[in-house]
Amino acid sequence: MKYDFTTVHKRFHTGSGKWNTLEKFGVKESEDIIPFSVADMEFVTAPEIVEAIKHELDTSIMGYANPTDGYLESVCEWFKSRHNWEPKPEWMLSTQGVVNAFFEAVRVFTEKGDGIIITTPVYHPMYMAATNNGRKLIDCPMTHEGAHYGIDFEALEQAASDPQAKMLLLCSPHNPCGRVWTREELERIAYVCLKHNVLVVSDEIHCDLLMPGHTHTVFASLGEEVAQNCLVLTAPSKTFNIAGLQTSTAFIPNQKLREKYFAALKLLNPNPKCNILGYCAAEAAYRNCAGWLDECLKVIDANRKTVVEFMAREFPQVKVTELEGTYLLWMDLNAFGLDYREIERINREEARLFFDEGYVFGEKGKGFERWNLACPTRYIREALERFRGAYSRYVK
Ligand SMILES: Cc1ncc(COP(=O)(O)O)c(C=O)c1O
Repeated sequence: MKYDFTTVHKRFHTGSGKWNTLEKFGVKESEDIIPFSVADMEFVTAPEIVEAIKHELDTSIMGYANPTDGYLESVCEWFKSRHNWEPKPEWMLSTQGVVNAFFEAVRVFTEKGDGIIITTPVYHPMYMAATNNGRKLIDCPMTHEGAHYGIDFEALEQAASDPQAKMLLLCSPHNPCGRVWTREELERIAYVCLKHNVLVVSDEIHCDLLMPGHTHTVFASLGEEVAQNCLVLTAPSKTFNIAGLQTSTAFIPNQKLREKYFAALKLLNPNPKCNILGYCAAEAAYRNCAGWLDECLKVIDANRKTVVEFMAREFPQVKVTELEGTYLLWMDLNAFGLDYREIERINREEARLFFDEGYVFGEKGKGFERWNLACPTRYIREALERFRGAYSRYVK
């Protein structure tokens, strides 16, 4: 490997949201464990990004920033080369985080009482985007057979035909279920939404994190009619582990929707601020870090394989969902016959494992764990040993 995927910088007392969980549960540095929860990586930043930021600091002034032409161009080129989709720079609006962007989309394109469809279990802020904004949450549970999730198209048709339904918040690839939706699945989703006049907000923040054999289809690439009925939200933050720089993009090919969104954002915040280092890091990442990402994906895939093989051998009753995309492995521990709160307790107190517990992602996530695989493999091996030690006391 050309890049370093073995060094870990312990982030105790650094304000890291992820590492705060460890602090909360009294983990000491001497325990040499890491959290497997929040979706950021335990890999050191790609040197090309660090160099670009250092150069920016040496040569620039940290004044108010607008997206640079270089940044806009680099995003478009990335989507062309990596996802075979050619967006236009004028479709892009800078946003400060994807969650921010879909919360705003809910406020701008729907009214109080309107229905927002989500396919559950799903990334929890998607529930909040509806409920915190006084919208009706329209739950469209996914099909779940064995370890495979899918869209329940009958349920989607029913949800979209609710006269209150105005928006689908789509998670593509899907967190936490690890699905990379196929073109055919996306076309069916698009068809249902067009038929019922439901706007699609496609959160594609995980679009670059693909396991071998899987291809991401950008929702807006499905044809002109579909492109005119969607917002595509994305960011380099998961791909290159720069979430702290809050630099993300909304692609809105439909001019009227774009102008409406932009005007509404201006109204809420007449002087939006952008992160000058975020643009610089994002441009460096998109232009120079494809090689880093390819190696990173190999490490994630190796970690996936390590966990899958371990569970199949040691705890075959654990259903590990096939990971197609993201670095978040979703597994069902319900066959242990333990209450989900007890599972959480065993993880934290006995195994010293800190996952995102499945119930966070909705009712159907109870007894599941979401395991963040973006870390050096030795930590995965060590965690599996602790998993075995703790659960072999409870499970035959
Ligand atoms: C599906 C999805 N959307 C959005 C986010 C967060 O995006 P941001 O940090 O840009 O708000 C995450 C983070 O885990 C995510 O999984």
